Amino acid sequence: MSADHGDSSARPGRNLLRDPRDRRLNRIAGPSSLVLFGVTGDLARKKLVPAVYDLANRGLLPPSFALVGFGRREWTNEDFVAEVKANVKAYARTPFDESVWEQLSQGIRFVQGAFDDETAFKRLRATLEELDDQRGTRGNYAFYLSIPPKAFEQVCRQLSESGLAQAENDKWRRVVIEKPFGHDLESARQLNDVVESVFPPDAVFRIDHYLGKETVQNILALRFANQLFEPLWNANYVDHVQITMAEDIGTGGRAGYYDGVGAARDVIQNHLLQLLALTAMEEPISFDADDLRAEKEKVLAAVKLPDDLSTHSARGQFTGGWQGGEKVLGYLEEEGIPADSTTETYAAIRVDINTRRWAGVPFYLRAGKRLGRRVTEIAVVFKRAPNLLFRDFAEDDFGQNAVVIRVQPDEGATIRLGSKVPGTQTEVRDVTMDFGYGHSFTESSPEAYERLILDVLLGEPPLFPRHNEVELSWKILDPFEAYWAGLDEQPEPYAPGSWGPASATELLARDGRTWRRP
Ligand code: BG6
Repeated sequence: MSADHGDSSARPGRNLLRDPRDRRLNRIAGPSSLVLFGVTGDLARKKLVPAVYDLANRGLLPPSFALVGFGRREWTNEDFVAEVKANVKAYARTPFDESVWEQLSQGIRFVQGAFDDETAFKRLRATLEELDDQRGTRGNYAFYLSIPPKAFEQVCRQLSESGLAQAENDKWRRVVIEKPFGHDLESARQLNDVVESVFPPDAVFRIDHYLGKETVQNILALRFANQLFEPLWNANYVDHVQITMAEDIGTGGRAGYYDGVGAARDVIQNHLLQLLALTAMEEPISFDADDLRAEKEKVLAAVKLPDDLSTHSARGQFTGGWQGGEKVLGYLEEEGIPADSTTETYAAIRVDINTRRWAGVPFYLRAGKRLGRRVTEIAVVFKRAPNLLFRDFAEDDFGQNAVVIRVQPDEGATIRLGSKVPGTQTEVRDVTMDFGYGHSFTESSPEAYERLILDVLLGEPPLFPRHNEVELSWKILDPFEAYWAGLDEQPEPYAPGSWGPASATELLARDGRTWRRP
């Protein structure tokens, strides 16, 4: 087993999408410490800590790995180890294995302190250096800022002043930041200036966890590893594209974060625009980070906003009511939400892409909470066949083929096509051809955070958006946000368990189309 794979820069052109399971043993993190800021937050407890354990359980972390928590709680190392263990048991994807845990827990430490406490950062440094000596983590540190963005500046400054941000010789230092990357274009720039004034751009890993999902990576595999789709993947054949991210939950106790942010900033600016970019981009010359990001950026830069934002956008807020046999609160009644909040819990927009490939093909994006069910999908809907020989026998919407990439749940892809109904008549109806990950592969997909944390430790950046992508995405969203803010009114109410407000249906109806019912 090779232990030192801490940096992949010596292996240019490695194809990350061809990371077959039988070669996985080559993707083992090198000696390193992962420092978690925000250890008591939901994300750290439910996703990050379990993902670290799952990586260890899959043999992808070296014996010389350490996990260091930093926080205000009055915890000892033992308290933190117990907390990590409880979270692993509750949320890890893979089964609990005592010997894996034994090995991992030896390298777990807690540093108590506040972000404004210089001495706490000195203690952090001392702890990391001690781990270098005791566990052979070799001075390689990744700092994961799972904290509110307003604290980024202070933590980055402290890391810099305590000498932790700068790497010497062959050691590395990396910083991981979670979305939201700002609130709009201007704040995103300010945030970036702060982070990049301390860490060089290639040491900054921005997490958009959708890019860590297997099915999202599969968009590129589906498009570029097959001959079947690409010839049709353009304005000559495609009628429109629908990208949906529906959730059946409310804000899930995250009122403090969600209110004032809303559906569009929360997920359209990042997850959905990334899905749009992957769906619409040209084939990159390689899957190296720069090549991949350059193609995504070209698409984002070519996005054309509608002339009339009022008819090409919709927003809503869920009311209280019944959902799946359960009584649920309305957004305004959820704990911590001001009774007059104008934050939207549903948003839909139409954009176009000004390129030869996509001119005239609308991309409809929608995201919402408390909708009919949890589903994220990309539907590429094709034009009808030019000569509808079977018209007399068809249903109304017959003949519009669609390729639907199901990001979650039931990960896979579906092709909708017309087929003859068995019988003596020539009746044709739409049917679906289905590929499901669960049927084709026996192993379950890793969680997005497993993949992304491993990539951070390996120093592999393709799945992390760079700052320019973030800026381009805000440039797309800011005008919609400004338009909505200018309305100064409550978003349109919609019932829980429905598919959003009436204005979203009208948005497509005006174009003579309907939303798919996922
Ligand atoms: C996060 C959003 O980025 O994605 C949340 O902030 C949302 O509001 C979550 O619930 C959904 O993630 P997933 O992986 O469950 O689709």
